[in-house]
Amino acid sequence: MTIGYAIHVFVCENERADDHPRGCCTARGSNLIRAWFKDSLCRHGISEGNRVNGTSCLDFCEVGPTIVVYPEGVWYSPKTRDDVEEIVTRHFLTGEVVERLRLR
Ligand code: FES
Repeated sequence: MTIGYAIHVFVCENERADDHPRGCCTARGSNLIRAWFKDSLCRHGISEGNRVNGTSCLDFCEVGPTIVVYPEGVWYSPKTRDDVEEIVTRHFLTGEVVERLRLR
């Protein structure tokens, strides 16, 4: 038995007070981002063996919502449902990193 997932997505769902200087990913819609990833994996028939998890702060708060995709360790900041769909269809299904959404 192999332990782990082929694709493992971590979505920051850290939450801070509205007046915090760094802001937070939850205020930028990360709960929806996580839900859209899960929905997209199901619709594309690739939820089995892959995983989307919420996580605490990934320390790129100012440019969130922040996600990181393993095993490659590619960081993204998707803002819309279309962004999520593009990451799933291009990165997860064909292996092409979506440069326009990438964090560096
Ligand atoms: S609050 Fe999301 S990266 Fe810090």
